[in-house]
Amino acid sequence: SDRMNIAIDGPAGAGKSTVARKVAEQLGYVYIDTGAMYRAVTLCAQRAGISADEPVKLAELARSLKIDLEPGEHGQSVYVNGDNVTALIRSREVTLQVSHVAANETVREVLGVMQRHLAARKGVVMDGRDIGSHVLPNAELKIFLTASVKERALRRHREMADNQTITLEQLESEIAERDRLDEQREISPLICASDAVVMDSTGMTIDEVIDAIVKLSRTKL
Ligand code: C5P
Repeated sequence: SDRMNIAIDGPAGAGKSTVARKVAEQLGYVYIDTGAMYRAVTLCAQRAGISADEPVKLAELARSLKIDLEPGEHGQSVYVNGDNVTALIRSREVTLQVSHVAANETVREVLGVMQRHLAARKGVVMDGRDIGSHVLPNAELKIFLTASVKERALRRHREMADNQTITLEQLESEIAERDRLDEQREISPLICASDAVVMDSTGMTIDEVIDAIVKLSRTKL
């Protein structure tokens, strides 16, 4: 085949989404942000008053949602049952809850099925936590993208709107906590697949990371 699937996994704020989107653009592939799908379920749970420790209700909710990802101006637009939730899923409330919702077995099963379906015809760049290790174990190229937690907090802080009153220290501790929850959950935790290429972006520019991945992709076809 002349197309492949590329999995980009790693901790929060490592630059996965920007990198994945641009790599997809350069290769003419489809970018799929799986974190957005977990965020969408979390937003809907919050709207329905369902908490992460109500597994049965959460599972039922997950099964009832139709999640659509469409290419948008700044990355990707996210729809739930036809409702555009692109901006809402980036709220602090969602960010603080999402790792708890993402630990639910049925939620992971339902979203995993959607993700495999989206990748079935190849030509996708998918970013997340468990793509190379669990969702697409046969992806032709797997990248594990990391950066120091300080660097990741700094990047997030810079891209945040001025009206958000969160200190760098607070952001750093929230990112570290989300990593801890994602790494320690029982079902498909954040883990570096044994055949993934590890890239530490701490001292690299976004463009250097993108170039490196595009070059690697050329060696795989
Ligand atoms: O990528 P992003 O930071 O938006 O992901 C939000 C959360 O969704 C992660 O912290 C994680 O809890 C969950 N997630 C996941 N598996 C994925 C993608 C995201 O559990 N493949």
